[in-house]
Amino acid sequence: MSEILTDELLAIAVRVARQGAVTARRMRDEAIGDVETKSTDTDVVTAADKAVERQVIEALLAERPGDGVLGEEYGDSATVAPGAVRWILDPIDGTVNYLYGLPQYAVSLAAEIGGEVVAGVVINAATGDEWTATRGGGAWRAGRRLTGSVRTTLDQSLVATGFGYDARRREHQGAVLARLITRVRDIRRLGAAALDLCLAAEGSLDAYFEKGLNLWDHAAGGLIAEEAGLVVGGLSGAPAGKQMLVAAPPALFPVLHDVLVELDAAGGP
Ligand code: IPD
Repeated sequence: MSEILTDELLAIAVRVARQGAVTARRMRDEAIGDVETKSTDTDVVTAADKAVERQVIEALLAERPGDGVLGEEYGDSATVAPGAVRWILDPIDGTVNYLYGLPQYAVSLAAEIGGEVVAGVVINAATGDEWTATRGGGAWRAGRRLTGSVRTTLDQSLVATGFGYDARRREHQGAVLARLITRVRDIRRLGAAALDLCLAAEGSLDAYFEKGLNLWDHAAGGLIAEEAGLVVGGLSGAPAGKQMLVAAPPALFPVLHDVLVELDAAGGP
């Protein structure tokens, strides 16, 4: 993969994701009053999700008409030719935070070639904070190269996680957490997987894990964490995916991994 191409893809991603973040923020400021008056909670979030996704897709395809896009709201735009770029987009990650005005919601945009994510950006739309990475080119925030946490023991680690929307899955996730919480410094549930991965990449969290993520939740943030030197994977050698994603520095990964296996964190519905 040429460095020039990945740099170009990242530049496009940053430009387009910034515009999406502005739209997300503006729509929240303008439309959230509707929740109390005419529309429902879900209408406000869905309208913003769709508007941001449409805007980002249009901007991407205007610059690179041959590319594919996988987005949370509109699905896969087309089958991608071998070697072509597929963009992976979460227009608003952290939709519950978005609804409540908690400043932890993000536009997440990644470029994938041949099944491998090669560039990614995550922008906290509430604060404007940005994290970027290209494969082989490191992970960055505001000109600072990210290297992750240096923590090596679980009992000293601040570990973030998240929960799915399905009640039966949550029951299992809650049971796992009840046993994990006694073995770590503390747990955080911040509500946006892409931001959890970026915070782990910069060492503001020691590690992060979650079962049930979709590709758009972790494509950009996963590359940022990897490029910061973290190990990002599933359990027992599986790649990170729906079953489980764990992101932790190399010394911590096996320790957290083994506890998650012991607690059957990838199990349940
Ligand atoms: C959700 C958030 C949340 C995670 C959920 C995701 P959404 O994405 O990333 O932190 O725990 O698993 O579905 O619905 O806000 O885009």
